[in-house]
Amino acid sequence: MAASVVLPLEGTFLAAEPNYDEAAVGQYTLPDVLAGPDGVPVSSPEAWRKIARPHQLELLETCVYGRRLPAVPVSVTGTVERADCLLAGDVPAVRIQATLRLGEAADAPTTDVLLYLPKTEGRVPVFLQLNFRGNHAEHPDPDIRLSTAWMPDDKATAIVDPHATEASRGTSSQRWPVEAMLVRGFGMATAYCGDVFPDRADGRPASVLPSLGRPVDGTLPPDEPGGIATWAWQLSRILDWLITLPEVDPEQVIVVGHSRLGKTALWAGACDERFAMVVSNNSGCGGAALSRRNFGETVGTITSRFPHWFCPAFTMYADRERDLPCDQHTLLAMAAPRPLVVASAVRDRWADPRGEFLSAVAAEPVWKLFGLTGLGTTEYPPLDTPVGESITYYVRTGRHDMLAYDWQRFADVADRMLRKQTPPQADGYPAFHPVQSPLPVTPPAGAVVLVPERVDDAATLMTFVGMNGGAIDWKADDGTLVVHSTTSHANHIVSTAVFRDADIHAEFMTATEAKGNSGLYLHGHYEMQIYDSFGVQPPTDQDEGSLYRFGKPIVNASLPTGQWQVYDIRFIAPRRDASGTIVTPGNVTAWLNGRLVQNELRFTEPRSPYTPYKHGVTDYLKGVEKHLLSTGEGPLVLQDHGSPARFRNVWIKRLDTP
Ligand code: GCU
Repeated sequence: MAASVVLPLEGTFLAAEPNYDEAAVGQYTLPDVLAGPDGVPVSSPEAWRKIARPHQLELLETCVYGRRLPAVPVSVTGTVERADCLLAGDVPAVRIQATLRLGEAADAPTTDVLLYLPKTEGRVPVFLQLNFRGNHAEHPDPDIRLSTAWMPDDKATAIVDPHATEASRGTSSQRWPVEAMLVRGFGMATAYCGDVFPDRADGRPASVLPSLGRPVDGTLPPDEPGGIATWAWQLSRILDWLITLPEVDPEQVIVVGHSRLGKTALWAGACDERFAMVVSNNSGCGGAALSRRNFGETVGTITSRFPHWFCPAFTMYADRERDLPCDQHTLLAMAAPRPLVVASAVRDRWADPRGEFLSAVAAEPVWKLFGLTGLGTTEYPPLDTPVGESITYYVRTGRHDMLAYDWQRFADVADRMLRKQTPPQADGYPAFHPVQSPLPVTPPAGAVVLVPERVDDAATLMTFVGMNGGAIDWKADDGTLVVHSTTSHANHIVSTAVFRDADIHAEFMTATEAKGNSGLYLHGHYEMQIYDSFGVQPPTDQDEGSLYRFGKPIVNASLPTGQWQVYDIRFIAPRRDASGTIVTPGNVTAWLNGRLVQNELRFTEPRSPYTPYKHGVTDYLKGVEKHLLSTGEGPLVLQDHGSPARFRNVWIKRLDTP
């Protein structure tokens, strides 16, 4: 049975003008993604693999991208350059640069790869993407080699004559948030697409294709690969090398791409199943968007402006999209059963966001064959709301671009779909599934109780001292401990017990004053926010559930002021070397009122200017921080921020010491 999408009105539009009218899309029938060569749909994962997938892949090869190029041996020319570095001042990283030779011949083509890795023990997942303007444009790090390859003249990125200049450094860095991904535990790899195929209509002779024995002029065979196929081949050759590195998890390399390079990421993921996950960002026509919709960019426009991206046969489908024996949903289906992300931007109508979504809907039957849910919905989601399971789709606010928001969503999917098998649980600690109701929760055996269930006289609480190391001046009221605020808003209390890694439980109630502001300062450095955030959407990295200035909560789980709330936090402290530099970031998993609000959020040096060691610091606190930096063990600090928050039943359970 053919999958079909029927829209109510059949309309017309001028081929020369892009169609942005949903009504003019009309009615179309998509080829059945499950069909084998005889047109009969398969009904098992085995038959998909053996019969339908090879057939559908061949249709994409012969009609859209051209035949897959053969693998060649990959070696490193010269040495692999490895250096420790601190990015953005406080994110420790290893920067690796290598020139890969693609083929056996001494004069085989090369590509320069840039890879940043977090300074962690063990193998990490890596996002691999090609870039548009050279590795040096992706990040301001002055030690990135400046590309000497041809690139199109462009004032905005300081490309002149037509090469990069020193001023080109970092000009695309908004699209590659290395630090944010490293602190989440991912490596980031990139290379310039122009190393293997200069992105211009006459780029073929200067590409790697002659080295692979492919014709570059005259009448090309209809299924001759173009730029996208060559870039996809480059991604696979980089993967050949990446998986030889001891720091890289060979089963968790994720291929990502934006726009034309998003089309490329999809084709690379289709041709090379070693990519563990496939991410298409704003890939549009010839990428995730259905060609048959004729909405925004069409096969006619793309093949006349960028004839070199596809195989010559694709051009023949200009204005005849509905004769194509495949459509872009079959490209998406090639990712199955792996996780796939299709990301759109609402102002990027040229790339047809809805056509990208409908393509993902139409690809779903293949995931279903594997017993998986793909998108799990046929309803177009609201803005900035990822939907789906094995296929994730979202439409972001804003225009055609790949931004920090997008990368965070890619990382969310990778965490959810890939890393679940190997949760980076520190040092084999027990699973963390805290009980949060009913309140109060009885402390487990071995817990150190800092605030008991009932406090009748705060002066008897020997588990905390004030900022100067003396007795605390907070008061008890109605059996609970109440923040006593002074004009400095720094009248915090500091636990005398210290810990390195610990599970921390705290029951609290916000007050109406000063927006209910208080907090749990983990080690005195990192604040799990307490704040009246009930109903705030979307919550920010300053709302309750956030690790202040590091990560907003996954969901807003705050309750109204006047109700008891509960945090359970698994705090894995950062590891420092003898000089005090963080060598392994810390991470936090937190539950708030029964909801997971942080999931192994990575963090490095403290970011808040208000930590007790900075704002209102005393000699006593200086000593506490010194001890922390030399031993890795620190206190829990309950925060005064001008609001009489209440606490009861606060305890810690050390994870790494008896
Ligand atoms: C053009 C082209 C798109 C492509 C984009 C890009 O807009 O028409 O198909 O995705 O360039 O790669 O930036």
